[in-house]
Amino acid sequence: MNTHAPDQNAGGPQGLPVIRPEAADGGDAGEIRSMTAAAFDGIEQSDGHEPAIIDALRDADALTLSLVAVRSGWVIGHIAASPVTLSGDDAAEGAGRWFGLGPLSVSPAHQGEGIGAALMRAALELLDTEHGAAGAVLLGDPTYYDRFGFEARDGLTMEGLPDDHAAYFQALRLDGESSYPRAVVTYHPAFGA
Ligand SMILES: CC(C)(COP(=O)(O)OP(=O)(O)OC[C@H]1O[C@@H](n2cnc3c(N)ncnc32)[C@H](O)[C@@H]1OP(=O)(O)O)[C@@H](O)C(=O)NCCC(=O)NCCS
Repeated sequence: MNTHAPDQNAGGPQGLPVIRPEAADGGDAGEIRSMTAAAFDGIEQSDGHEPAIIDALRDADALTLSLVAVRSGWVIGHIAASPVTLSGDDAAEGAGRWFGLGPLSVSPAHQGEGIGAALMRAALELLDTEHGAAGAVLLGDPTYYDRFGFEARDGLTMEGLPDDHAAYFQALRLDGESSYPRAVVTYHPAFGA
């Protein structure tokens, strides 16, 4: 029996869902875990660790953002953001103010409805306005992320990423500056979960 009692006021059945931070009491964690697992199931580039990464970030108090998309009381999308470190010639320039976005997932039954885009836009807005972000990085398919302004940037690389995957590591400045640091980006250790 499913004992979850959806909040019928949280997100209407039509249109875009409500986007809000995950519940502070951990009440969304189980749904985030199962929805993320379902979204990444069978994805070639996935090692199936995405739900564990989100849990490990939460356990490490490193979930800068954990936003859920909720429709009719059910979690149907999620995006995480966490701090990354920059090391390299320009590391001091943006130290502490760069964030990694992801995992991003939308329930398979609801993909292609604009929910992923709504989560991404909400996360970028909050990183800018509430976290003073210099910028954000992510690893993913450029054909999806270029619509938000993400691009691979010369000299900004991800630790351990093979050269032939370089196009998948993309960055976007959020502070109005136009140049990108020449640095190596390291994600939170939770990404090894
Ligand atoms: C990728 C994902 C988050 C996008 O969310 P979504 O709500 O389905 O996407 P939206 O409705 O905002 O956007 C739909 C567009 O994204 C495109 N798209 C969806 N998944 C894509 C992918 N993996 N790669 C490239 N484009 C993708 C669709 O073709 C569509 O393109 P169009 O607008 O040109 O028609 C979602 O499909 C998902 O959870 N996929 C499985 C997990 C995953 O791959 N996560 C991202 C890891 S980097």
